[in-house]
Amino acid sequence: MKQHTLLMPLDMHLHLRDGVMMEHIANLSSYSFSGALVMPNLVPPLKTKSDVIAYKERILHCTGVVPTDEDEEFMSEQDFEPYMSLFYDNYSKEFLEDISEEILAIKLYPAGITTNSEGGVSNFDIESMRETLEAISELEIPLCVHGESNGFVMDRETEFMSVYELLASNFPNLKIIMEHITTKDAVEMLDKYDNLYATITLHHLLITLDDVAGGMLKPHLFCKPIAKRPQDQQALLKVALDAHPKVMFGSDSAPHPQHAKEACGCAAGVFTAPIALQALCELFDKHDKLDNLQYFVSDNAQSIYGICPDFKEVVLVEEPFKVPDIYTDVVPMFAGETLKWSIEDVD
Ligand code: DOR
Ligand code: ZN
Repeated sequence: MKQHTLLMPLDMHLHLRDGVMMEHIANLSSYSFSGALVMPNLVPPLKTKSDVIAYKERILHCTGVVPTDEDEEFMSEQDFEPYMSLFYDNYSKEFLEDISEEILAIKLYPAGITTNSEGGVSNFDIESMRETLEAISELEIPLCVHGESNGFVMDRETEFMSVYELLASNFPNLKIIMEHITTKDAVEMLDKYDNLYATITLHHLLITLDDVAGGMLKPHLFCKPIAKRPQDQQALLKVALDAHPKVMFGSDSAPHPQHAKEACGCAAGVFTAPIALQALCELFDKHDKLDNLQYFVSDNAQSIYGICPDFKEVVLVEEPFKVPDIYTDVVPMFAGETLKWSIEDVD
């Protein structure tokens, strides 16, 4: 039986939500990942130091790093680092200096582009953003960007490339992470500027728009940015399988309750947290690239972000894993299907 061990897997783009939803889903990530960059698009978005600290405490409580009296044994088994992000705004340098120890990154959303992003940037006028971006750059805080214009849905990421170029050339010392890239254009942009990096999701490696809307509409595969063309998927797959050093795994696992997905007006987001490592193993194995998976799911992120997660070893085996139909009220990708690889052990 084939076996593959991953050390300190990291998910560099994760939605953990809050409240009851977080209580239901957070352990699915903290079980198999060493850490994750947690997105700040809560309601209201995370924009203050006290909100970031309080949210981190709630995450640690749910992921079990802080043992509780009621459930001490289970809780103390989990070992998971939530790397915090701050929702971008026109912050002052003093504010950023004060918060910099609490966060790993700042997440910039165009206003209204996706779930809970109304408080984002509505005008990408570099001059009006310069003071904040210079401060972010000087403090060496990576800037994660949801890169979509508000144009035609299939062209949104490509249209945003000019903003990436402006950011990358005006702030050469700023580490810019193009989040969840979905196009060949974004892949090509990576090698044009030293300070551009990217995360890639599992679902964008596996699907195109055809899988979402080519036949019966699949609400559980609907996300922002929408999956694109086969040539885009191939370009993403190539850099992920080759473990391009500027590319890292970020699941963008984005849970919504079943009723919000299977609805007239479907919420955007694919829930992959509980199946991500198994499906990645299957994908990399299928292409005979298992040896590169460690770079894609951990080592590249460690170098790009300069982080050193606590030890965690995840042993995967080539044994069938029947994906549950639902986790509480959230339907995962591949619900009810059988994956080729499963998690055997986590230490
Ligand atoms: O599909 C998405 N869902 N894309 C995002 O950018 C946000 C996410 C969410 O928070 O639901
Ligand atoms: Zn996201």
